[in-house]
Amino acid sequence: MFIESFKVESPNVKYTETEIHSVYSYETTELAHENRDGSYRWVVKPKTVKYEFRTETRVPKLGVMLVGWGGNNGATLTGGVIANREGISWATKDKVQQANYFGSLTQASSIRVGSYNGEEIYAPFKRLLPMVNPDDIVFGGWDISSMNLADAMARAKVFEIDLQKQLRPYMEHMVPLPGIYDPDFIAANQGTRANNVIKGTRKEQVQQIVKDIKEFKVANKVDKVVVLWTANTERYSNVVVGLNDTMENLLSSLDRDEPEISPSTLYAIACILENVPFINGSPQNTFVPGLVELAIQRNSLIGGDDFKSGQTKMKSVLVDFLVGAGIKPTSIVSYNHLGNNDGMNLSAPQTFRSKEISKSNVVDDMVASNGILYEPGEHPDHVVVIKYVPYVGDSKRAMDEYTSEIFMGGKSTIVLHNTCEDSLLAAPIILDLVLLAELSTRIQLKADGEGKFHSFHPVATILSYLTKAPLVPPGTPVVNALSKQRAMLENIMRACVGLAPENNMILEYK
Ligand code: NAI
Repeated sequence: MFIESFKVESPNVKYTETEIHSVYSYETTELAHENRDGSYRWVVKPKTVKYEFRTETRVPKLGVMLVGWGGNNGATLTGGVIANREGISWATKDKVQQANYFGSLTQASSIRVGSYNGEEIYAPFKRLLPMVNPDDIVFGGWDISSMNLADAMARAKVFEIDLQKQLRPYMEHMVPLPGIYDPDFIAANQGTRANNVIKGTRKEQVQQIVKDIKEFKVANKVDKVVVLWTANTERYSNVVVGLNDTMENLLSSLDRDEPEISPSTLYAIACILENVPFINGSPQNTFVPGLVELAIQRNSLIGGDDFKSGQTKMKSVLVDFLVGAGIKPTSIVSYNHLGNNDGMNLSAPQTFRSKEISKSNVVDDMVASNGILYEPGEHPDHVVVIKYVPYVGDSKRAMDEYTSEIFMGGKSTIVLHNTCEDSLLAAPIILDLVLLAELSTRIQLKADGEGKFHSFHPVATILSYLTKAPLVPPGTPVVNALSKQRAMLENIMRACVGLAPENNMILEYK
């Protein structure tokens, strides 16, 4: 059964006018090893830590500024939100289609609340904690192409024509601000698009972005802004001692106008200086060590990298299932072809390399979790191929072959073929990223013994469900398995309202 909303009543939860305060017992395990009588053994002890969470309940008016606003993702997300807000429907050859938020974890998925009279009760995910309603977001942003959003939507060829016609009046006056352009970081084939660029030194470009954010806030009367990179994939920046390895070196490189600071890093610096959350939806290493240090020092949220929309999402489900079932994936081969501007940009070897790196580590944690199947250091063969085929446009093809070793030396091969508009997968993920980033800035926590409440670590691992190569703070494990990432997010949100983590034991009926 599905219920629309609920309220938690518990001695551990207090609702005040401005916040939800919860006291939470975190059940965890502590590991140690002992060397007794010459033999070495692991000791595992259960441990309970008391936590307190404080969630500010006032939902701000949110502005979302997209870098690459006029791209396929930017135009699709903006149009999709307007269509939902305005209740637009349109005729397709099959039916009259209503706008919806399918594919969004926050807007279209549900959580289990409990059992009632022998039935499982579910509620919308978004009812767990107060969240910004996407219909209320004000969109803006930058693009190196000056095309307005209505024309950009037409260029993207993602929405049905009847929908485009209805959206045009809302979008034709939306024009991206000039962006930071450096041809050295994206494919040469993007040059013809770059007619809307910020001039000046890199430092002046950062100052312009800061100014743009401030002006956007005032002009649109928004309380908070989140910035998200959905611009072209850049090549990796070289990480060099003295250049970008520390915060100090990065900032003095900026003063010296060093050419190896990428545009995405420049936008991120501007956001951190403004204390505005910055999320990277592409695979490049925007977050060079100096930038991560700057974000930590200023306690400004950063999250990334690379939207996890299709093939990688499947991989982080399928390999988790196989390894979890005691089956040994030995070869994973992924082909993609796509014909949108992203595909054209990725046809250059340097930008493709960024994508290849971000797609390649997604099974590491699952492989490392099973020493019965894999020797230390052993890894399945894993190959990723991306080809640009203009005719298919935004409708990306993804073909995957998984070969595994099964019982008694048998082999099992699974082949998947997915055809789907890339931007229709990415847009709801962008929405989730900005909504969850905003929400996480309203949560404070404190473990027993800690003097003061503090926010989550500025490197936002809570967003990892939505990203291919989750950025984590130095010294933190990377979790790629999708179900674990979702459980982490859901269970942290449950803790904020004093609910136990979903443990799936259903002991009531055992
Ligand atoms: P797109 O090429 O249609 O859009 C990118 C936009 O960024 C273009 O309008 C371009 O003019 C603009 N741009 C490039 N450099 C810029 C800069 N320095 N400042 C401001 N604007 C700049 O690409 P699409 O399909 O929208 O994808 C965007 C990004 O998202 C790509 O990097 C892609 O790899 C990444 N991505 C997309 C996924 C999907 O399913 N669509 C999944 C994972 C990542």
